[in-house]
Amino acid sequence: MSNRSQLASWQALKESAAQMKQTHLKTLFAQDDSRFDAFSTQIPGVLFDYSKQRIDKNTFAQLIELANECDIATWRDKMFSGEKINITEERSVLHTALRNRAHTPLVVDGEDVTQAVDNELAKIKAFVEKVRSGQWLGYTGKAVKDVVSIGVGGSNLGPQMATEALKALADDTLNVHYVSNADGVQIASVLKAIDPETTLFVISSKTFTTSETMTNAKTAVEWFLQTAKDDSTIAKHFVAVSTNLEKTAAFGISDENVFTMWDWVGGRFSLWSAIGLPIALYLGFDAFEAILEGAFEVDEHFKTAPFEQNIPLIMALLSVWNTSFLDFTSQAILPYDQALHMLPAYLQQGEMESNGKHVNFAGETVPYTTVPIIWGMTGINGQHAFYQCLHQGNVIVPADFIASVKPQVAVDKHHDILLSNFLAQTEAMMSGVDAQQVTEDLAAKGKTQAQIDELLNHKIHQGNRPTTSILLDTVDAKTVGRLIALYEHKIFCQGIILEICSFDQWGVELGKGLASKIESELTDDSVKHAHDSSTNGLMAYYKQHRTQ
Ligand code: F6P
Repeated sequence: MSNRSQLASWQALKESAAQMKQTHLKTLFAQDDSRFDAFSTQIPGVLFDYSKQRIDKNTFAQLIELANECDIATWRDKMFSGEKINITEERSVLHTALRNRAHTPLVVDGEDVTQAVDNELAKIKAFVEKVRSGQWLGYTGKAVKDVVSIGVGGSNLGPQMATEALKALADDTLNVHYVSNADGVQIASVLKAIDPETTLFVISSKTFTTSETMTNAKTAVEWFLQTAKDDSTIAKHFVAVSTNLEKTAAFGISDENVFTMWDWVGGRFSLWSAIGLPIALYLGFDAFEAILEGAFEVDEHFKTAPFEQNIPLIMALLSVWNTSFLDFTSQAILPYDQALHMLPAYLQQGEMESNGKHVNFAGETVPYTTVPIIWGMTGINGQHAFYQCLHQGNVIVPADFIASVKPQVAVDKHHDILLSNFLAQTEAMMSGVDAQQVTEDLAAKGKTQAQIDELLNHKIHQGNRPTTSILLDTVDAKTVGRLIALYEHKIFCQGIILEICSFDQWGVELGKGLASKIESELTDDSVKHAHDSSTNGLMAYYKQHRTQ
């Protein structure tokens, strides 16, 4: 039995959950007109409103007590100081050191991490300026026009999400393309659009062993050499971001063209490191630094704000409350800002790869649901797709609604229309429409009692569906940094509260290992491994039909 479920606060929350399941949010709002003031908080550039969550003051106090009983403050300090809290891999967890804008020294395993980070940032800055100013020349003496970033998972999602978020603010110095999929269709379409003489490839892989990335990188080199011919030209067109200098050298990338990261940076927390190089190349180093600054502000908030106003901690507590106590096992991320369209995909990895586990620190099976399924898309598109289910389905999906006060690009009345939808949806999910309202509306439209009876149940919206609204001043580099850091610390707190080892990903390794075994069978008929009849049947069908 896990310790967490034996805590006094956990037991108290279980009782509160039983009561809260019988309570409607509409009633909570009716009982307390200061609910917004009580359950919303701000940091520069961000308004965080969780008043439409299914909590009251009593539950909130119990959740804060849970944070205390789980010793969040001690764990937080351990993380920031470089203790090896990634226990299954014996590593520190120091993505916060990558954006330590106070530059306070931090010695871990005898190395001043701050100094190492600052050195790498200086290297990134110099490189970015050389490329963007046109001083970095390709093998025929031409400046770079296109950057192709090759990486997958944490070595792709962060940079691509930030690039998408900020592309309205980019100048036209460089184009950036992302290739992550082993499906050749993706790299083929990118290669079709670029010129080897003016293209810079950034191969991003912490391990430099990830099969999808290596496959794409190999294809890129072969394509490049078809024109450039000479291996010595690779140095001018390929750089790497990795911790594995041996592998990057074997690949043909010279050491000075390798940007490093460290084993204390997890893939899904790495956009602040040299993994963010494509962002800096695309938007300029200043914009990249602004992202770091936004995140640093949130780090300071997380370290110093009292628990009752600590946004990432509250996000985590609400997630645990919804998932482990109220039994809502999925959570939607719904940005009402086109710039944030990749945020759901980014957070899927962030949260599910971190906390999608079923054993506690001691390796014992936990008796509660851990991470919810994270999914979503831009809110407006979602409204015309799956919101029907959010409003009237018989699964309840708590949702984060994210919008910005000022649009990146103001077009006529678009933003007011967008924000009206943002506001309307959370109100509708909270209050719903009861039988009396439906009856009155239909009667006002002249429907007979028989017609009303027929339609009534179809038109009732139960409401009572919990949402959080995050209102950003605008989506700029600093805000992107703030937003991502809020979710990162949420994930950390969630992991500690649930006693989950958030910083490993053993579950991903299983499929990776099997894929490489099967690949050898698909490419060499003499190789045979034992499989189940389904896998055998699928392989046989594929081999038989692939050349027909
Ligand atoms: O998907 C599993 C994973 O290990 C992620 O955690 C990581 O971000 C990704 O693969 C890429 O790994 P690498 O940067 O080593 O290529």
